[in-house]
This record gives sequence, C-alpha cells and structure tokens, in this order.
Amino acid sequence: MKVMAFNGSPRKKNWNTVSLLDNALQGAMSAGAETELVQLYDLSFSGCISCFSCKRLSRKKDGICTVQDDLSAVLNRIKEADALIIGTPVYYGSESAATRAFLERLCYPYHKYAKNRQSLFPKRINTAMIYTMNAPEEMLEKMGYDKIFGITKRMLGMHFGACEVLLSTDTLQYSDYDKFEAEMFNKEEKYRRHAEVFPEDGKRAFELGVRMASGKIPKPDV
Ligand SMILES: Cc1cc2nc3c(=O)[nH]c(=O)nc-3n(C[C@H](O)[C@H](O)[C@H](O)COP(=O)(O)O)c2cc1C
Repeated sequence: MKVMAFNGSPRKKNWNTVSLLDNALQGAMSAGAETELVQLYDLSFSGCISCFSCKRLSRKKDGICTVQDDLSAVLNRIKEADALIIGTPVYYGSESAATRAFLERLCYPYHKYAKNRQSLFPKRINTAMIYTMNAPEEMLEKMGYDKIFGITKRMLGMHFGACEVLLSTDTLQYSDYDKFEAEMFNKEEKYRRHAEVFPEDGKRAFELGVRMASGKIPKPDV
C-alpha cells in the first residue's frame, strides 16, 4: 500500500497545508502504508499546454502526460500509488497555481472522451483534497468555495476514485501579525484558533490518512 501526498503550498515546512499533510501521512503510516510527500514548489513544471498528444488516436493510451519536465517522473510514480492526498492553500477562491497545474497534468491524460464516463487510470484508488484557508467556515457557501471544491472532488472521483475533502478554515497566515498588514483580522482570535482548533484539524487529517491506507474504496458520489 503506497500513499502519495502533494504539498501545493510554497511554504514547505511547519505551515498549515504541509502540517496537515504530515498528519495525514502519519495516519497512513500507522495503518502500515508506505508514504511519499512531493513538494510541488520544488519542481519546475507547467500546467497542460493543450498539445492533445494524449488524445491522438495513433498514440498508445497510458494516461501519462507526454510533456517532459520535473513532473514527468512524479506522474509515472502515481501509477503505482494506492491513494493520493493533495493539499493546497486556497488562493483567490481556488487551489494554488502549482496545484491547478498539477491537477491538469495528472487528470487530463486519463480523461477519455467517450460517451460513458471513462478513466484510463488502471484501478480505483482513494483520493483526498486538503484545503487550508483564511476564510471562516460560515463564509464558504456565501463565497462559492463549496462549488469550487466540489468541482475538484468530482474530477478526482471520476478519474481515480472517491475523493474526501478536508477543510481547515480561518488558519494562521503570519507567525507575527504585528509585522504584516492584517487590519481586517482579529489577531488574538487567529492565535487562539491556531492553538486550539488547528490541532483538531490535524487529528482529522490523521484519521483521513488512516482511511486512505485502509484499502476500502467507497464509490465516488459524482
Ligand atoms: C496569494 C494568496 C491568495 C490567497 N487567497 C485566499 C482566498 O481567496 N481565500 C482564503 O480564504 N484565503 C486566501 N489566502 C490565505 C491562505 O489560503 C491561507 O493562509 C492558507 O492557510 C495558507 O496555507 P500555508 O500556510 O500552507 O501556506 C491567500 C493567500 C495567498 C498568499
């Protein structure tokens, strides 16, 4: 059982997204999985360049993007994975740029333009998205974030297998709110949440990791 995680935050250590991914991988390891964490911001790669090489009738369909860059080896390793956990900060209401680029390159070559929905990925596996964000939970629907998260959930469900979504809201953005612009935030409340609520998010991430490594694949609700 191999669980792969992907950090879509440029902050690679100790910050919100990578901390929850670490928790999730600890959960997966506790359930006996082999794990790997890929730092997307360590790699130089682009999103889909619309070359349609993956859609050419003459090409053997292996579901791997033909563009050659730092992502190529990662995309090849994903074929052997039994679960994928993708973590991203919310940037302007969506996934970070590196996460979007990764998702395009990961999903599109497996996407078959067939009348019935089909994926070229050879097996069904568990997938998860972990989102961290400044926005408080009560604002998500109003800002339409639930719809955006739903689109990615469906996309992963369609191509790979049931996708769980874990949300960590109202996160700590700065270690010291007195040193950066932060007028609109209640800094004391941010520190309190980071001390009291964020560890609970970590526990939820750990449990998610355990489920990802369980080998039980629920049907995607897409
Ligand atoms: C460029 C940028 C855009 C952001 N846009 C949003 C946003 O639209 N909504 C939101 O809730 N938070 C937004 N944030 C805040 C981050 O999502 C939040 O601080 C996140 O937890 C950071 O994750 P990290 O600590 O792993 O880097 C933004 C942050 C940056 C740097």
